[in-house]
Amino acid sequence: MPYFILTTHQKGGVGKSTLTYNLAVHLKDKAKVCIVDMDVQGSLSDFKDFSPVPILPAEKLSELNKSDFDFVFIDTPPYLSNKLTELCNLANVIIIPTKAGVFDVLAIKSTIEIVNKSKGEKKALIVFNMVKPNTSLTDEIKVQLSNYNIKVAQTMVSDLVAFSRSALHNGVEDNKKALSQIEGLTNEILTILSI
Ligand SMILES: Nc1ncnc2c1ncn2[C@@H]1O[C@H](COP(=O)(O)OP(=O)(O)OP(=O)(O)O)[C@@H](O)[C@H]1O
Ligand SMILES: [Mg+2]
Repeated sequence: MPYFILTTHQKGGVGKSTLTYNLAVHLKDKAKVCIVDMDVQGSLSDFKDFSPVPILPAEKLSELNKSDFDFVFIDTPPYLSNKLTELCNLANVIIIPTKAGVFDVLAIKSTIEIVNKSKGEKKALIVFNMVKPNTSLTDEIKVQLSNYNIKVAQTMVSDLVAFSRSALHNGVEDNKKALSQIEGLTNEILTILSI
């Protein structure tokens, strides 16, 4: 049975699709990987003809339990409340990307409420994304994060052109900084899975 890695946030534009894609592409040489695109508006699906990993439509998800994929990455659209609880129950790891502003961190709350209702052990990971150079987390952000009681990834993902171009360039393999961040995040996910 595959490990299911869900990327979600009720807010749009935080980097869900970008991180999902890059994490999946990064693991493709070591494991059998696919992406399921739950976004009916299509986003990653628009790149499926160029993608080095299969990008499958939402309706395929129910068949994947019995598949020989090692990792199934699930990309979600924003505002997915009902369906999200079910997806959280299925997920082995839940990645919640966010920008590093005070209002951004406050906006994670509604997602965390849904994640906390899901069954099983706590497996969510907040990932700071689009982090500008020389940014450190302010005290207000640290206090807010400690209220959430959810693990925060040590790896922060920078705001880099390599990421915004990644879907057209088969990931970020040719950018050292971006690649090392995706590597770091992958290792943190594998640690949560005890792999
Ligand atoms: N680390 C990054 N560095 C630079 N640009 C980024 C980074 N992460 C995401 N982006 C850009 O930010 C925009 C939003 O990213 P993305 O589409 O991945 O967000 P999303 O959460 O999937 O959005 P939606 O909720 O609309 O599906 C895109 O233009 C993407 O290229
Ligand atoms: Mg998206």
